[in-house]
Amino acid sequence: MSISFSDNDNDEVITRASSLPEDTNEGSLRPRSLTEYIGQEKAKGNLEIFINAAKMRGESLDHVLLHGPPGLGKTTLAAVIAHEMGVNMRITSGPAIEKPGDLVAMLTNLNEGDILFVDEIHRLNRAYEEILYPAMEDFAIDIILGKGPSANSIHLELPHFTLIGATTRSGQLTAPLRDRFGVTLRLELYTPEELKRIVTRSAGILGVDIEAEGAYEIASRSRGTPRIANRLLRRVRDFAQVRSDGVITREVADAALSSLEVDKLGLDSLDRRMLRSIIEFYHGGPVGLDTLAATINEEAVTLEDVYEPYLLQMGFLTRTPRGRCVTKKAYAHLGIAYIGQQEIPL
Ligand code: ADE
Repeated sequence: MSISFSDNDNDEVITRASSLPEDTNEGSLRPRSLTEYIGQEKAKGNLEIFINAAKMRGESLDHVLLHGPPGLGKTTLAAVIAHEMGVNMRITSGPAIEKPGDLVAMLTNLNEGDILFVDEIHRLNRAYEEILYPAMEDFAIDIILGKGPSANSIHLELPHFTLIGATTRSGQLTAPLRDRFGVTLRLELYTPEELKRIVTRSAGILGVDIEAEGAYEIASRSRGTPRIANRLLRRVRDFAQVRSDGVITREVADAALSSLEVDKLGLDSLDRRMLRSIIEFYHGGPVGLDTLAATINEEAVTLEDVYEPYLLQMGFLTRTPRGRCVTKKAYAHLGIAYIGQQEIPL
């Protein structure tokens, strides 16, 4: 099986779920099979059935749409599917497909049963989606050569392939594209227990000595995200080597993460800034997403995709029809006195 990865990155904070340059050797920690893959039990259970059924019928797997916050292992899961199906996977992304020819070239280079993985599929140019419709449905494409009256159309048969689309924003997919996926799986944030198993497994691969409590400390401060857990593990390992005897204990992990400004519940300076801004400028909310984004100088989509899932899961933030509100629990966590949510005076 051959797989090539390309990563995306935007900011450089250690607890952000988007890929950072230091994650380039993340590959060695990626599970290869469903048995090695920890967590996402619901998605895994369903996939196991679909994979086995497709294999029993000797067919390619139905097209799969994976959605959920960044860093939860969508690319990893696609690679696991390829491994389980015993096929090759080609990787591209919505924004990387700059012209229709890029997509046609990818499709026509596939072999029978292969997987085409399109990351950030919601960012695929709408005009090129039309190439995908017959490709996904009938395994064929029609290419128009030339222009005007002399234009010629050629019908190209494609191998039976599986498209795996990954997106952080399934709501932005057009209905015709979404409808062509036979299987839709939502990936959820991981529990601290699941992340503890991932950290322990990764430490084993990296040859790092780690105590169970040390692994739990890292896991519970990783925002429910394996990519962050593995990144924090590497940084904590550095602290353990330089400041201690190399063993990651709970104390070492705590000291290291505190130095990295990752607090007890995994919030970093950006999360705290977002919560504080809502409290200071909008009396705890409600505040509209765009207004908030302008206040803290971030893009609204970044707030929604990257910051919010964990803050919502932790119960620090709520979404209401009138905007975002900070909860009493967040005030307590930040050590700010709660005086109740108030209307902003005009
Ligand atoms: N490394 C990153 N994600 C993982 C997962 N879900 N299971 C095991 N190891 C991982």
